[in-house]
Amino acid sequence: MSAKIYYDIDANLDVLKDKTIMFLGFGNQGAAQAQNLRDSGIPNEKIIVANRADSYAEDAKSKGFNVVSDFGAAAKDADVVFLLIPDQVQPRVFNTEVAPNLKDTAAIVVASGYNVFFKLLNFKPTQDVIMVAPRMIGSSVRSLYVKGKGFPCFISSEQDGTGKALEIALALSRAIGATKAGAIASSVREETAMDLFAEQALWPNVIMLFREAFSVLKEAGCSDEALCYEMWMSKEPAEIFERAAEDGFIQQLKHHSTVSQYGQLNGALNLDGSAMREHFKNILYNQVLNGKFCKEFSAIEEDLEKEGDANPLNVLYQKSEASELGQAEKRVRARLAGLL
Ligand code: NAI
Repeated sequence: MSAKIYYDIDANLDVLKDKTIMFLGFGNQGAAQAQNLRDSGIPNEKIIVANRADSYAEDAKSKGFNVVSDFGAAAKDADVVFLLIPDQVQPRVFNTEVAPNLKDTAAIVVASGYNVFFKLLNFKPTQDVIMVAPRMIGSSVRSLYVKGKGFPCFISSEQDGTGKALEIALALSRAIGATKAGAIASSVREETAMDLFAEQALWPNVIMLFREAFSVLKEAGCSDEALCYEMWMSKEPAEIFERAAEDGFIQQLKHHSTVSQYGQLNGALNLDGSAMREHFKNILYNQVLNGKFCKEFSAIEEDLEKEGDANPLNVLYQKSEASELGQAEKRVRARLAGLL
């Protein structure tokens, strides 16, 4: 299956003429996207940054934006709303403060599929719902735009209340600099599936592989210092992935020694992935796509603001750091900092 790719030529910025554009949030993505949009010619007086009174609001003011703290009042004027506050707070803030005040024809833009895919946000059927999801951290969204370069981005129209949702999605994507290098047509389902799958299936296995490999090599007599450097502190894994992006996932192997190339290619081909495939399918269908994880996460969301052991994330960190790898790294880092 190949996806459609949209470029600047597919987007018409005139669609945004006279529209009032509200940024709810001026954090990683909000700050980058609002500045890019303004630099693409959207007049400053047509942009409202809605932000609670915090350091992000001060940052927006210092950059010359019109900042308001009354989300409801801002929503009344907005034709387009970029929802750029953290995913876990979007449902509460959007549903109570923004949605009741929004125009029937407003376009709501998300940068992540999660809340739309799991139907946690209340939209009117007459409104447009759009995803413009950069695959980059906010600082890169800004710095690449400033350099005149694009960045990878997924876009979709999820609800076409006005009949112009895709046109608006393309114009907004162009204005933030996302169609310069090509924006990939996607959907909240695809974006959410890939994101949560990576977080709940792929990377947990990578963490487990490193943890177990560490223990096996330690048992064989390797030192903590040698292991930490060999496995990640040298930044070799980061370099491998950098090369994979540049040269190709398989072709990057050519930068390694012949012994290494033979060992890696032969070793991977000899591994039977069928059990892992079943495990992956189980996570994808029975944990991610069926909403099981979303339900569980919603139930603990408020606990994530708590201190100490009342915060489940703190408990997970403690358990993970209790592993042989975690303990060894602590010792090695303390030693390197001259503390031991
Ligand atoms: P962030 O964590 O930088 O958000 C900070 C902003 O949210 C600030 O303006 C802050 O005032 C506001 N905020 C925080 N808590 C709030 C609350 N309880 N009530 C009202 N405002 C609150 O957010 P980030 O990382 O920019 O994420 C925004 C969206 O972009 C999310 O949907 C995320 O998934 C998506 N995204 C983020 C990327 C990144 O680089 N971090 C990459 C691609 C997408």
